Amino acid sequence: MKVDVLLGLQWGDEGKGKVVDVLTPRYDVVARFQGGPNAGHTLEFEGQKYVLRSIPSGIFQGDKVNIIGNGVVLDPSLFKAEAEALEASGHPLKERLHISKKAHLIMPTHRILDAAYEAAKGASKVGTTGKGIGPTYTDKVSRNGLRVGDILNNFEEKYAVAKARHEQILKSLNYEYDVTELEKQWMEGIDYLRQFCLVDSEHEVNNLLKEGKSVLCEGAQGTMLDVDFGSYPFVTSSNTICAGACTGLGLGPNKIGEVFGIMKAYCTRVGAGPFPTELFDETGKTIRDLGHEYGAVTGRERRCGWVDLVALRYSIMVNGVTQLILMKSDVLDAFDTIKACVAYKVNGEEIDYFPYDITEGVEPVYVELPGWKTDMTKMTSEDEFPEEFNAYISFLEEQLETPIKIVSVGPDRAQTIERYTEK
Ligand code: GDP
Ligand code: IMO
Ligand code: MG
Repeated sequence: MKVDVLLGLQWGDEGKGKVVDVLTPRYDVVARFQGGPNAGHTLEFEGQKYVLRSIPSGIFQGDKVNIIGNGVVLDPSLFKAEAEALEASGHPLKERLHISKKAHLIMPTHRILDAAYEAAKGASKVGTTGKGIGPTYTDKVSRNGLRVGDILNNFEEKYAVAKARHEQILKSLNYEYDVTELEKQWMEGIDYLRQFCLVDSEHEVNNLLKEGKSVLCEGAQGTMLDVDFGSYPFVTSSNTICAGACTGLGLGPNKIGEVFGIMKAYCTRVGAGPFPTELFDETGKTIRDLGHEYGAVTGRERRCGWVDLVALRYSIMVNGVTQLILMKSDVLDAFDTIKACVAYKVNGEEIDYFPYDITEGVEPVYVELPGWKTDMTKMTSEDEFPEEFNAYISFLEEQLETPIKIVSVGPDRAQTIERYTEK
């Protein structure tokens, strides 16, 4: 068996949580491979809304095994709060949530370092989620990190060494902080973590595949936030692309099957950094209002703009996307016309590829398409799609050279339409 990978193609918040939940019944296992509580994955069903941060979005469908892979960074106190809330709402996790011993721990001082580095950057700050993501991955790569498996022996000592290093850095930055309360909650989180199934997830996933079990890998963030291929330095600190599933779960590249790329019918970004198709006018505000574009975790306003096909073609290329999932088309239901960026103008020259630097002087070249002016939120089959919407998706498929297999027309699990299904 191979694994299928589902990931975001834009700047995150494409609707990954919703679609993983929808697809989970087709799989035996769901596994997160990178990121941490910087993610906020929203799911809605039966009138309930949940936001997941570190726990995979396959947790609500039956008793499927969910795995937090080695590529994830885990904050024990935030994890405890998230897991306890789920258990309290009637979703027991302890037996079916497995956590890699090789996943790195976000320490309280990582969060403080995140804030200190942002403060030191001043106007050029990244606008991080403040969850300690960058400092934790930095420690991982510089071989100073603490891993989940470390809590099983001699932990106090290892923690003290790592904390002392952080204190030294914070002192050199003249950064004032008080870690007492954070640390207290964090230690409670460490104790809580001990009750879970801590595993060698690379063995587990590969053994499951050998047994013929099917696995869906859930990405966090989006390709434009990838540390190598995103809008660096305004990115997150992990590989959000498909290759991240190989390193974040211990899978050979030949184990990758379908790659589901998720995109919104428009585009959003939260935090700082370039965004060529950003709209600063009423249209941008309308998209934000209709799409409820506010951070799932931080509540921050998301910046909104038209869909960027130049960036999407690049994302599809670096991920090897085999099928597209189009989200939030309903948000554009009332628009007379819809724009799509098909090329960039850089220094007066039109280019159709994603350039090294999109920070300055990139002007989007748009084509305009007629809106469908129809409420799509109650539709259940592609047969009901208005003609203009069909034209819009055909246009996207042609531009992106990839089929759109699922269309989402609302936040609820049920508001999901499959295309190319056998009639
Ligand atoms: P994720 O981080 O990729 O899982 O996405 P988020 O949960 O951060 O943001 C997506 C938001 O859009 C959530 O509030 C979802 O409930 C909502 N959503 C998902 N799909 C649709 C859709 O097709 N239409 C509308 N209107 N909302 C959607
Ligand atoms: P999901 O999984 C949208 C953004 C932050 C910031 C940058 C770096 O819900 O799509 P970090 O805290 O990771 O160091 O912040 O990345 N960012 C996200 N934006 N969705 C996310 O996750 C994000 N996770 C991080 O806003 O610009
Ligand atoms: Mg999100």
